[in-house]
Amino acid sequence: MSNEETAPYGAGPAGAAADQAAQAVPRKRIRTHHLREMKKRGEKITMLTAYDMFTAATFDEAGIDLLLVGDSASNNVLGNETSLPITVDELLPLTRAVARAATRAMVVGDLPFGSYQASPEQAYLTAVRFLKEAGAHCVKLEGGAEMVPVIEKLTQGGIPVMAHIGFTPQSEHALGGYRVQGRGETAERVKRDAKAVEAAGAFAVVMEMVPGDVAGEISRELTIPTIGIGAGNGCDGQVLVWQDAFGLRTGRMARFVKQYADVHQVLLDGARAYAEDVKAGTFPGPEHTF
Ligand code: KIV
Repeated sequence: MSNEETAPYGAGPAGAAADQAAQAVPRKRIRTHHLREMKKRGEKITMLTAYDMFTAATFDEAGIDLLLVGDSASNNVLGNETSLPITVDELLPLTRAVARAATRAMVVGDLPFGSYQASPEQAYLTAVRFLKEAGAHCVKLEGGAEMVPVIEKLTQGGIPVMAHIGFTPQSEHALGGYRVQGRGETAERVKRDAKAVEAAGAFAVVMEMVPGDVAGEISRELTIPTIGIGAGNGCDGQVLVWQDAFGLRTGRMARFVKQYADVHQVLLDGARAYAEDVKAGTFPGPEHTF
């Protein structure tokens, strides 16, 4: 394609991300029943975070089953220290971008801290915004047995809910920091939480920083899929924050992160090469000039 045929600064979601997605084989949208069937077949479920249209289209093209527009955007996109400060109004446009770009993956909107804990009604109104305004296919919320009335309200109102138990980052201060949950006697509490969210109607549950044997046992006992992050190989699926998995973020990583790429280095090399060309006056060349 010549430069004249390319829209300036990218073609927008109907163009570039959709072009990218269209290169992949046409595929059916992943729905909650597909995830249940995958669990039954013993086929592992893949989930990554995504916060913009190009990463969403790329991960979708790679066949990732679920894209989580996590409140981790707070500390991976917006520059905050933790996931606590992000608001619904900040997360909705990111969710909309991901939902517009993903043609197969199920898009999970993450309910931010303070947007659902006050009451089932508050939770319902917030979750509706994620489906109506952003095009999410379901929502995720943190908490176990205490979230049963909220999960019931949402599922009865037609909103699929992914629960999140074990270490729940929004409760970082209440939990005394980033700590494994479910060691020793507290294993029973995590098991109770898992069973409670399943009984309340959650279609899947994320387990974060739970000992592998406990998470494995829970995964075998539940009929809904479990998605682990720092919860070992016995879960039905895995999720990672993409900036961790692909090395955009640098520095110390949690033990549960495996780094599959070095995006930081790729961008650094690209930015340095661009700067060198501009300083040397070798970019733009005649081929980039009208
Ligand atoms: O917001 C997020 O990215 C998450 C994952 C860590 C599961 O909740």
